Amino acid sequence: MKQSALAVYRCPVSGGALRLEDAEKLGEEVNSGTLLTADRRYPIEKGMPVFAATEQLAGTARFARNYYASIADSYDENVHVTFDLFNESELEVRLSMINLLNLNPHSKVLEISAGTGKDSELIAKRLDESGELWLLDISPDMLVQAKAKIRKYPARTEAAIGDACHLPYGDDYFDALYCFSGIGHFNDQKAALKEMARVVRPGGRVVFLEKNVPPWLRDTEYGKILINNNPMFADPDPLALIPVEARNVGIRWILGNAHYVVDYTVGTGAPVGNFDLELPSYRGGSFNTRYFGKVEGITKESKALYEKAAKKCGMSLHEWLDSTIKEKALKDLG
Ligand SMILES: C[S@@+](CC[C@H](N)C(=O)[O-])C[C@H]1O[C@@H](n2cnc3c(N)ncnc32)[C@H](O)[C@@H]1O
Repeated sequence: MKQSALAVYRCPVSGGALRLEDAEKLGEEVNSGTLLTADRRYPIEKGMPVFAATEQLAGTARFARNYYASIADSYDENVHVTFDLFNESELEVRLSMINLLNLNPHSKVLEISAGTGKDSELIAKRLDESGELWLLDISPDMLVQAKAKIRKYPARTEAAIGDACHLPYGDDYFDALYCFSGIGHFNDQKAALKEMARVVRPGGRVVFLEKNVPPWLRDTEYGKILINNNPMFADPDPLALIPVEARNVGIRWILGNAHYVVDYTVGTGAPVGNFDLELPSYRGGSFNTRYFGKVEGITKESKALYEKAAKKCGMSLHEWLDSTIKEKALKDLG
């Protein structure tokens, strides 16, 4: 970790700034030490801050740390199976995903669940010395390998051990965020996807993939074979997880039609429509008057009368009703 990373790392629990203590440094590089807030301490081990200690991990996060520790050394030899199963090229699939990030050489990129860094290296190749690549994974055994793979590239690189559900970064820092096959392990997938939108600046890109048999294949033998082999293929599709900040959302099933890819551009809050726009129609009014201006019901007879009156006055239903209610209310209110 570089000392300057303190400007970006935040306490994953409180979101507060961190201070560095007992640092053992080589130039800018901090190899060991402690990151602190008033009431929390995070050790730096092998140059990586550890934001999620093993004893604090529960559920799927604990499982993932143990499982990936056991397969970290053989992961790179075996991961091709995921692609061979569907007669697809690992490199082509990974590159097509990375293309969705719209990177330029000075992009600041965060990769979550970077694992042994198979994509980290492909991303690092696209950055120059003004670019930044930050990695996060719950498994130190996987991440040390990723760190080694990207060391030779010119971009600034950082790696941290942490849980995707509580990201240890400040708001709006990154231009792009990438997560290839990690979401299925997260304890709280909705929180993790919200966190992704938080740390990427408005206008930045988010891309993630996870295994998933889509609804139309669930009852086929093909779908059943996949789900039988790994129940994660039966997890719900990601639509309900996508945060309100997502704009121009793309969702496709690729890699054997059994993995979803979601890509979107980050916006601010929920979208805003031009909902005061007057609608040139018999009903008249706007989306906003129809939504916010709902009043108690009236009798069938009054409704027929007001429709007739509006027509006679050459007004839309909205104009007649709004002006009539306003006139009567103002009169009654004196
Ligand atoms: C299937 S591997 C994918 C690795 C890499 N992205 C790739 O494409 O080869 C899943 C990765 O997710 C990580 N992971 C699991 N749960 C996590 C969590 N809660 N937060 C961050 N990473 C997690 C695992 O440690 C593992 O490295």
